[in-house]
Amino acid sequence: MKLVSSEDEISSLCSRWREKGLKIGFVPTMGALHAGHLKLVEAALEDSNRVVVSIFVNPTQFGVNEDLSRYPRDIRRDSALLENLGVSAVFAPDIETVYPRGFSSEIRVKGLTDGLCGTYRPGHFHGVATVCAVLFGIVRPDIAVFGRKDAQQLAVVKRMTSDLRLGVRILTVPIVREKDGLAMSSRNAYLSQEERKQAAAISRGLFAAVEACRGGQRDCSALRDVFREEVEGEPLLSVQYIVTVDPNTMKKVEKVEKEVLLAVAVFAGKTRLIDNVLIEPEV
Ligand code: PAJ
Repeated sequence: MKLVSSEDEISSLCSRWREKGLKIGFVPTMGALHAGHLKLVEAALEDSNRVVVSIFVNPTQFGVNEDLSRYPRDIRRDSALLENLGVSAVFAPDIETVYPRGFSSEIRVKGLTDGLCGTYRPGHFHGVATVCAVLFGIVRPDIAVFGRKDAQQLAVVKRMTSDLRLGVRILTVPIVREKDGLAMSSRNAYLSQEERKQAAAISRGLFAAVEACRGGQRDCSALRDVFREEVEGEPLLSVQYIVTVDPNTMKKVEKVEKEVLLAVAVFAGKTRLIDNVLIEPEV
């Protein structure tokens, strides 16, 4: 496995693979890898002949009061995990490589980014869309893999890739969870023991809403209440948002008639956690 920080090196490596007719899979990450990231890598390895994983803590997607400086970083551990899985190259550029002097572009995916996390993290998705477009431009993969954990990000990246005809097929992987249901996240490392324990109520609440729908409840506000009740039982948790939306457009939905995304952001102490579940009407 190659560990590459230079743009020229990774793009010529990928060009050589392309010339040989090899299919390139790409998994963009911010590192601090956990089993969720590794599932994405496995999906890429199954689909493609060569897999590139990027590790880049993208400053433009962090707000001023967010955790950019304390975001966990461990490139050696991450590289060892990826090498074991059979990844061909890790691209870990520095900030000046991704945003060289004079860089002036920003990609805004409109509408989709107004609600949910976009409301509370203004500019976040412009940063995500822009860095993904830059990374796609450098690697020029055939496919890129994203997790459903970040459902709004996924919708944004799909929209951007199709609007700009980037020619990258987006594959998705379901949310990977801890034993007690908590969605895996690099930010779980910030939780105290007690916060970590109480955080399990987030997925419990989401699954309870799925069960309520199975039991016949199709009213989204009632389903949101099912979630809220579960989480309100835990004193260290506080809900930032609970929404029921169309998973592709992020437009609000009030009745479960087709697939609905129940997406939430919850603070456990000072740590902001996101999670979601797809609710399907039974046929
Ligand atoms: P990061 O948070 O490192 O996540 C990288 C990828 O892993 C994303 O596609 C995310 O959805 C997926 N992922 C994280 N936790 C997951 C879980 N528990 N189950 C399944 N997939 C999971 O998302 C980003 O980085 C950045 O915004 C990035 C796309 C790299 C752009 O900077």
